[in-house]
Amino acid sequence: MTKQLDLNDYKQGIADVYNRRSQTYDDSEWHLLICQRLLEYSLIRSGKHILDIGVGTGHIAIEAARIVGDGGRVVGIDISSGMLEQARCKVEALGLNNVEFQLADAESLNFPANSFDQILCANTFPWIEDKEATLRQWIRFLKPGGVIGIHTPADTAYVGYVVLLEVLEKYGVLLEASNRIGTLETCQSLFEDAGFEAIKIKTEQHGSYIGLEQAKATWEGISRPPQGKYRNFSSKLSSEQLAQAKAEFEAKLEALQTDQGVWDELTTWYVIGRKPETKIL
Ligand SMILES: C[S@@+](CC[C@H](N)C(=O)[O-])C[C@H]1O[C@@H](n2cnc3c(N)ncnc32)[C@H](O)[C@@H]1O
Repeated sequence: MTKQLDLNDYKQGIADVYNRRSQTYDDSEWHLLICQRLLEYSLIRSGKHILDIGVGTGHIAIEAARIVGDGGRVVGIDISSGMLEQARCKVEALGLNNVEFQLADAESLNFPANSFDQILCANTFPWIEDKEATLRQWIRFLKPGGVIGIHTPADTAYVGYVVLLEVLEKYGVLLEASNRIGTLETCQSLFEDAGFEAIKIKTEQHGSYIGLEQAKATWEGISRPPQGKYRNFSSKLSSEQLAQAKAEFEAKLEALQTDQGVWDELTTWYVIGRKPETKIL
């Protein structure tokens, strides 16, 4: 029998989204690119034990399993059974026997302390509800001197989201802490406060031009579950205010349109940190 997770509505919403997307997830090369970058920055070596959090269809786990070889081990965890199923099929087809997958919530893992050399987390950290508590938990699983590598979009990323926030602020609506980490400084502090040292944040621009209608669709998309947990703004404004705010939102995006479309900036951070050698948790 398949193990079931006891997830809150927000996380069940995420699991449902990815279960639905699991069969077509690999059609996009975007996530693969991010995973390759994170792998490059994380400098995985042969024989190491790796934990891939939010493993999805296994982009990182499979490459990591090849790098660590027979003397190493990779564990991938995810809340979406559909994504894990895809990952398992790929691993089986490749005949890799040093990688295993577990259905588990990244915020309540139960590995022994000091059991991994590296923890990697690509395209998943924004979904974590309590980022500080979760990092404090993850650092326990790392061996002293072990390395964490996380990818996350910067605050300035996604034009529709940034413009929406600006407009809503004018109406006195400050959206509840979103899934962003904050500024580079708050990102640094978040990892320091969790106990990591030698933190390096590499910044890359993965932006592209998108169509105006796609940018405008942020208005509807952002208040839909599971994002709605953080971004449900429609109940905070009257219907007249909503209509006015939406018109302003669309006008601001129209003003940003160029011949190529609307620039959808996507500053991306790759955060690498180390558990101190002296830290035995
Ligand atoms: C965008 S996919 C990334 C998958 C893979 N890391 C990659 O980059 O291709 C996000 C993944 O995170 C998983 N996820 C989201 N929240 C999670 C949580 N709290 N615990 C475990 N997995 C989670 C989702 O189910 C999904 O498979």
